[in-house]
Amino acid sequence: MPSPPPAWWKDGVCYQIWPSSYKDSNSDGLGDIPGILPTLNYLRDLGIDIIWLSPTYASPQADMGYDISDFEAIYPPFGTMADMDMLISEVHRRGMRIILDLVINHTSDQHVWFKESRKSRDNKYSDFYMWQPPKYAPDGTRRPPNNWRSSFGGSAWEYVLERDQYYLHLFAKEQPDLNWENPVARKAIYETAIEYWLKKGVDGFRVDVANLYSKDVSFPDAKILEPDAETQFPFEHCLNGPRIHEFLKEIRRDVLDKYGEDVMMVGECWMTERDEVIRYVSKGEKELNMIFDFAMASVVMEFEDGAPKTREWKLPELKAAVAKAQLLTQDTEAWTTVFAENHDVPRSLSRYATTDPKWKVKAGKLLAVMLATLTGTLFLYQGQEIGMVNVPDSWTVEDFRDIASLNSWKATAERYAGDEEKLCKALQMLRMTSRDNARTPVQWDDGPNAGFCPQGVKPWIRVHDNYKEVNVAAAQKDPDSILATWKQMLRLRKQYRDVLVYGSFEIYNMEDPNVFSYVKSFEDTKILVALNFSSEEQDLEIPPSFKERTMELLVANVDQVQDKLSAWEARAYLVR
Ligand code: GLC
Ligand code: CA
Repeated sequence: MPSPPPAWWKDGVCYQIWPSSYKDSNSDGLGDIPGILPTLNYLRDLGIDIIWLSPTYASPQADMGYDISDFEAIYPPFGTMADMDMLISEVHRRGMRIILDLVINHTSDQHVWFKESRKSRDNKYSDFYMWQPPKYAPDGTRRPPNNWRSSFGGSAWEYVLERDQYYLHLFAKEQPDLNWENPVARKAIYETAIEYWLKKGVDGFRVDVANLYSKDVSFPDAKILEPDAETQFPFEHCLNGPRIHEFLKEIRRDVLDKYGEDVMMVGECWMTERDEVIRYVSKGEKELNMIFDFAMASVVMEFEDGAPKTREWKLPELKAAVAKAQLLTQDTEAWTTVFAENHDVPRSLSRYATTDPKWKVKAGKLLAVMLATLTGTLFLYQGQEIGMVNVPDSWTVEDFRDIASLNSWKATAERYAGDEEKLCKALQMLRMTSRDNARTPVQWDDGPNAGFCPQGVKPWIRVHDNYKEVNVAAAQKDPDSILATWKQMLRLRKQYRDVLVYGSFEIYNMEDPNVFSYVKSFEDTKILVALNFSSEEQDLEIPPSFKERTMELLVANVDQVQDKLSAWEARAYLVR
């Protein structure tokens, strides 16, 4: 079998930039587009091929730009349209690609469509959003149409007097859900949110909540899983809904295909099982190229009473989650992704490995070896390459900015008012689960504000206390840094792309609670990866069939390998 034909969106390594916290160029304490330009060479040298830029559109910033008020304008503090055009061309000039965030499940309530829609039931935009009549309790009290809960807490419905109706918002009330049942609305979305940017030359999109557009429009009550709560998560009625595949096919056929077959679409798809995932990403379906599967995130985090909390987890669960995304490509026409971080989940070192100072750097390298040897398109999140970690224990509620965290904290503070012990525990949970863990400023150097913004300027969110030790400048000088390992691994990934990017994946020690070992294969070439996820020495098991073959050490996170795997050791062998 010859090598798989190259596809830029399969071989390419993608780096997510979350603009608010990346780099501030004009000393207002907020990251911006011009701030990205001087870092492009750094990213290229790291081995990055594709940049995913999180929303920079005009927005009131109720949800950090995931509430868009104009798809064809830039949020002024992030820069101008000229800055954006420059970014696109500077990325392309370096032979890299750029994808944008496509947020079209909802808009901001300040989008002109919604401002018009809320005025009356019979204007041009009346049916652009999901409006429903109130329900009335026996005593005449006005109630929302059903018991659906918003992902950010509280009812998913908001009443508007002018229409005497409620509108649906699966996220904040400032993020009304668009009405995908309306073909006129769909066409308008495609033109402004997608085509406008494809005409500017962007190479594709990360599709925000890609499995959420189609709702059960009879709007039944959600199953009661929390009997004491007023609202319930509505996912059975809106996730992977009845018309979702029709809508995504329409986008590919009627919009993207006009710009070539190669427009990259990577969808965010929480809580979706394998068979359903294949329907989104199988080549023949012509919908998305790949999705982010959050099975790995769910291993370490769960929801209780609507609030996120950490889970006690065992290594076999992590292996199963990795396997779910890996096995997707086997015997199917589907493609997959590899990622451990983004702007919505805490830092990977803190969640899957250890921040124990004794092992942190070694464990960070272990994660790099793991991620860079898995099949699929690889995504890194800003700061991951230098081993940025979750916020420290000393941070208080005032240090947090995320709407999801603050809403859930408010609810908790009300529920446990006066109970110091419960509140203290809840704050501890907030520190470990908040999306702000990923949103602290990128640590560029050991100067004031970690080089994110100049001395004397207050960054919009607190800089992590560890910046003197963990920063890009220090990592670049240190051949033993996590960054150096990432560079090495991304080179290796390109060198052995058949096996590492496209190969098949097999776990051979599923039950082992400490060591994660797997074999990647393409034809007769095999790479064995062994990862010790513990602080103790462990045996290195080698599949019996490898004993007659030659094993060449490709990479290790120790200077000298011994028979046994040392604490947090990672190794990869090429087996011939
Ligand atoms: C996605 C985004 C998240 C945002 C939400 C609503 O999950 O990744 O940041 O809050 O959608 O747009
Ligand atoms: Ca700025």
